[in-house]
Amino acid sequence: MNRGLLIVFEGIDGSGKSTQCRMLADLLNKKGIANISLAEPTRGKWGMKIRQLLAKGRNGISANEELEWFMNDRREDVKQNIEPALKAGKVVLMDRYYFSTAAYQGALGFDPEKIRVDNERFAPIPDRVLIFHNSPEKSLERIESSREEKSAFEKRDYLIEVQTIFKSFTGPNIRYVSSDSSLEKVYEQVLCEVQDLFEVKL
Ligand code: TYD
Repeated sequence: MNRGLLIVFEGIDGSGKSTQCRMLADLLNKKGIANISLAEPTRGKWGMKIRQLLAKGRNGISANEELEWFMNDRREDVKQNIEPALKAGKVVLMDRYYFSTAAYQGALGFDPEKIRVDNERFAPIPDRVLIFHNSPEKSLERIESSREEKSAFEKRDYLIEVQTIFKSFTGPNIRYVSSDSSLEKVYEQVLCEVQDLFEVKL
């Protein structure tokens, strides 16, 4: 089967993963490697409900509903975007995927491992997952300088718990990238961690 590649960027808010994801997309474009960049939560119907929750806080929305919304959003993303792109042989770059659900909704009290297993029943397993980590203080600094107000997802204690869960993931497709250093240094690490998936030199 001529399946493309699925590369996922994960980490707590303010870890710099979105910038690195864009940098890799630019490089693939320069090299003429067909790729698509996707992000979750999406801009679809469930993603927009989630964005409301991010902007307005969790008031009245139960943890169960929150988890349901992220799962529904992903089901839609898999069917409409991820599977077709992989079938077309593209490199799919994702800014967040089900490891975020395991970590963020896991930090609300759900079992992260169960979330991961439930997702893997319908969501393609990535060829590589880059988990960005830095001190939550550094993340909060970045968040505070770039946003007017923190969402319920960006509070210090919650992020520390999320980070702890992110650090617990293991598997042959999982790599940790320390994002405390400069943009260039982090980018070097990113290239190093995905190079073996490509025939050409990145
Ligand atoms: P984020 O990547 O910060 O989106 P944007 O840059 O467009 O604002 O994601 C928004 C938030 O959603 C982030 O705090 C993490 C959270 N999130 C979950 O809690 N569970 C999930 O499954 C996903 C995909 C995201």
